[in-house]
Amino acid sequence: MKLGVCYYPEHWPQERWLKDARLMRHAGLSLVRIAEFAWALMEPMEGEFTWDWLDQAIEVLAAEGLQVILGTPTASPPPWLCKAYPDILPVDAQGRRRRLGSRRHYCPNSASYRQHTVRIVSALATRYGSHPAVVGWQIDNEFGCHDTARCYCEECASSFRHWLKAKYDTIHNLNEAWGTVFWSQTYGDWSEIDPPNLTPAEPNPSQVLDYYRFSSDAYVSYQQLQISTLQPHISKRQSVTTNFMSQFSDLDYYELANPLDFVTMSSYPTGHAESKPALYMPSSIQPVLAYDVGDPYITSLGHTLMRGFKQHHPFWVMEQQCGNINWSLYNTGIRPGTVRLWTWHALASGADAVLYFRWRAGLYAQEQLHSGLLHHDSSPDLGYNDLVAMDPERSLMAEISSAPSEAEIALLLDYDSLWALRLQPHHRDFDYMRHLFVYYRALQRLGLPADIVSVDADLSTYKMVILPTAFLAMEEQARSLKDFAEVGGTVLLGVRSGFKTTNSQVIDHPLPGPFRELVGITISDWQSLAPGTSFDLSSSVSGLAGSATVWVEALNQTSPRSQSPDPNLRTLAHYLSGPFSSRAALVEHELGSGRALYMGWFPNDSQAEALLAHLASQAGILPLAVVPDGLIVYRRGPYLVLLNFTEEQLTASVQGNIISVGPRDVEVISNH
Ligand code: GAL
Ligand code: ZN
Repeated sequence: MKLGVCYYPEHWPQERWLKDARLMRHAGLSLVRIAEFAWALMEPMEGEFTWDWLDQAIEVLAAEGLQVILGTPTASPPPWLCKAYPDILPVDAQGRRRRLGSRRHYCPNSASYRQHTVRIVSALATRYGSHPAVVGWQIDNEFGCHDTARCYCEECASSFRHWLKAKYDTIHNLNEAWGTVFWSQTYGDWSEIDPPNLTPAEPNPSQVLDYYRFSSDAYVSYQQLQISTLQPHISKRQSVTTNFMSQFSDLDYYELANPLDFVTMSSYPTGHAESKPALYMPSSIQPVLAYDVGDPYITSLGHTLMRGFKQHHPFWVMEQQCGNINWSLYNTGIRPGTVRLWTWHALASGADAVLYFRWRAGLYAQEQLHSGLLHHDSSPDLGYNDLVAMDPERSLMAEISSAPSEAEIALLLDYDSLWALRLQPHHRDFDYMRHLFVYYRALQRLGLPADIVSVDADLSTYKMVILPTAFLAMEEQARSLKDFAEVGGTVLLGVRSGFKTTNSQVIDHPLPGPFRELVGITISDWQSLAPGTSFDLSSSVSGLAGSATVWVEALNQTSPRSQSPDPNLRTLAHYLSGPFSSRAALVEHELGSGRALYMGWFPNDSQAEALLAHLASQAGILPLAVVPDGLIVYRRGPYLVLLNFTEEQLTASVQGNIISVGPRDVEVISNH
């Protein structure tokens, strides 16, 4: 496993670079990402390039045996460019043109910005495309960060019209797809269509969903422009990637990942736990977690997402938190051992390389209060000391990183469903990712490894597939899930599935639409439940009884074709109170040698665990270990990695053997 660091040579005097490079090597680092925000230095005036500083920075690093990832600097166009071509600046949903002075101030659809992009990227690629020390390219930086995934400028408006024309062909088709007869929205011509912002009431959800798709496509095409610009100049040894954010869902990461050699991520465990508490149902285990490590289940979710964006491909952590950050609520500090634990965590989850953000804490500008491996004064900070202390473990880490991550369970993620549900959640707490996370966390607490993959992924290697909410119904998907179940697979379809068409219109068949044959039921009634309201449940599955909250659906036990009860259908839970009393809440439908289940409510943590434990044991999927809260087990090839994120000594049971793991510590078991 390679370790590395994000370095900004341009922030420090040149005399310092050699010392930095030596210290990097001493800490066991071998990868250095540089230059992703250095456009103003590379091209101080249009068409005039200054490469001396970058040539020298790369030479100094290379001389110490360090390998370089070069960033294309397009996340931050320089002031001269913004002033000369102000149309490159994006417009936000409130209709305000954004200013320069920070970063991500460009519109991906701007024709002029695309030209400037090609100029800087081809100049960089020509200069460093065959440099032996340059091993890879990071395109741009965190597409969509700072709420820039969607731009509402005039150029976007016009590109949107073209995009719609290509999609719908006739304006009549568009009117049908969007249901524009409602509120007199019928369009007579493409030119009448605007981006869906600044409307007094909420805009048409079908239109917004298309705008989200269009905006995601814009970044996919902008990224492709950079890939195509790099390709003719760079050597085959050099990989091409970009960095994703772990808890970000405004862009379709499957589409962005597709043309890349591998994906990389930014991982800031304390930031995500602090800044997004609302997205994740409060977990009963929070109090036992060590205060400095963040919620490891959320961190893990990020890793697992990355592993699935290119199915079965390892990923890199391009930016790993290594001290306090500067952008969350409290920016809490770390302790000796935290960086080691985070590094092991990424490795256990399938990372092949981890680069720390950043080398040294900056003295000026926006990120002054962000830690690095070195303090502001260049003395080693806690992260640096952890790396040095990890030296004896590095060969084991390298061995583990060459082993594959495998899982028998897949959770399916679909951005269209996620966006459509976010547009009309109907219940404040019904968020697609939050719902997915309930199932994901349950699997981790049960010691059951899972992948998260796209709805188009190859499912043949899995025994169980979970679709938390297949909100937008696709006939084809229903068919392939049925095939999967018939040959022995287990499908779990969650609440609110099959509700809408891909145009985000409600389906005019009984719910769950095209999934009826798969799950053998129809849904006659559903209700959203306010906080504090619940319906009682009983269940034959141990641990599942209790109360249903958030969202409830009443399932009809008749087969879609006939009125007689389906002999292959079993009710596993039913309502005991409320208007759905005595109606089914969870059913199991036998299909061929497998089964499909429909879960009629939004489960809480313990219900999700009870259900998944039951299904896994029925499907013959064995847990890697029996683990207590806060101890997570991972498998890579023959290695089991056990990570304890709490302050207590904890024990796991691995095939009857008791393994003890110290506080904030790691144990590795090998089946070699
Ligand atoms: C990332 C970003 C970095 C830096 C870091 C601070 O989102 O890519 O450039 O800003 O956050 O935590
Ligand atoms: Zn725009």
